[in-house]
Amino acid sequence: MGECVTAARNPVCLSGLAADLWPHTARLEADGDISVGGLRLSALAAQYGTPAYILDEADVRARCRAYAGALPGAEIAYAAKAFLCRAMAEWIAQEGLSLDVCSAGEIAVARSARFPADRMVLHGNAKTPHDLQAAIGYGVGRIVIDSAPEIVRLTALSPRRQRVLIRVTPGIDAQAHPAVATGVEDQKFGFSLASGAAGDAVRKVFAHPELELVGLHCHLGSQITRPQAYELAAARLIRFTASVRDCYGVVLAELNLGGGHAVPYLAGDEPFSLAGFAERIRRVLKAECAAHRLPFPRLTVEPGRAIVNRAMVTLYHVLAVKHVPGGRSFVAVDGGMSDNPRPALYGARFTVRALRPPGEDLESVTVAGRHCEAGDVLAIEVPLPTATRPGDLLVVPGTGAYNHSMASNYNMVGRPPVVAVRDGAARLLVRRETDDDLLLRDVGS
Ligand code: LLP
Repeated sequence: MGECVTAARNPVCLSGLAADLWPHTARLEADGDISVGGLRLSALAAQYGTPAYILDEADVRARCRAYAGALPGAEIAYAAKAFLCRAMAEWIAQEGLSLDVCSAGEIAVARSARFPADRMVLHGNAKTPHDLQAAIGYGVGRIVIDSAPEIVRLTALSPRRQRVLIRVTPGIDAQAHPAVATGVEDQKFGFSLASGAAGDAVRKVFAHPELELVGLHCHLGSQITRPQAYELAAARLIRFTASVRDCYGVVLAELNLGGGHAVPYLAGDEPFSLAGFAERIRRVLKAECAAHRLPFPRLTVEPGRAIVNRAMVTLYHVLAVKHVPGGRSFVAVDGGMSDNPRPALYGARFTVRALRPPGEDLESVTVAGRHCEAGDVLAIEVPLPTATRPGDLLVVPGTGAYNHSMASNYNMVGRPPVVAVRDGAARLLVRRETDDDLLLRDVGS
């Protein structure tokens, strides 16, 4: 792992910092520190404490622009579930993207950031009345119907005609982790095309004039590397659009292909080609629409992870180093599964780097968290300097998506702050959760 001299301020040249795993502005400093957004991570750790999520605003904005550039004319709806706070909602709005939300809470955050309601899409397989009321109350542009009872509930709640899409299960295995595979038949989301449930849902929605059916949606899963699954889904949904037109004389104008575009977590992980995806989808839509005499649809994609994952790194202090005789070496840090549950939930792998001087001997270690279970591991088989000791800083890149949003208070540990960095300045976006915060909800004595 050759270190790179930082005089070259070019991320591609950061050997030792695999370019695609780190935020755009990450720089390896000569002393082994890393700077993001023009600020040294060691200085940010000193100022904000650890664990801390550090978010590179320039990276988020660059990813938004890359999507808009690759898919001109398409709607890019950032999936808020990956990471949301008010500043993030503002950046997404400023970049001209739409927002996919899935709860009253996400709507509340977007609303407080004045995110344009007509650019919001509500999802959920079991939206609560509170979710639906929040969406209707704010005037969320489109609601994606995911079950038959929802058609009735929505009709009862809507004071005005509500634009809706129907979530279709296209019966496609995109080779996602079983916990996030949503294109296959046997899972909880959507109406199956194959069984005829999708056709029934269309008929029911058309029977409710309070609802305006504007399109179809599908989401195949997460961490999908190959675009072929999306091509197949696009073709199946266009064919279904044609059958709806043939039955009812209505052309559904919107086609939402969901998110799931993969990002690398480890050096050498298979990348997702946005340009390749854009090209293939355009081609298949053109061909299918021509074959079925349909106009080219208004395409929506919903990337979450691909927008935010690489923009964030998590900083930790090492608290203990343990060599188990005949076993592994553990480096334990001051965070863990409460700020990053993904390894425990999905066996997700992460890259870890010690902010130590370059050129030291490395050994393969397990980076463990501070929580009271043996499965609280952040990363396995990571090369860290043998000299790593308590007080050192470790940084985990690629923690923007689903880390903060799935963080918990396990062991009554407060959630870390989110600090945005940009052009040499840091700004606290979400403060650290304190013991007092934890006690606030406990109203029992
Ligand atoms: N659209 C819909 C309807 C979704 O359900 C999701 C994610 C997305 C878009 C965005 O998917 P993305 O582009 O971020 O892969 N907690 C899991 C991921 C769950 C994804 C749920 N739905 C994880 O940490 O990997």
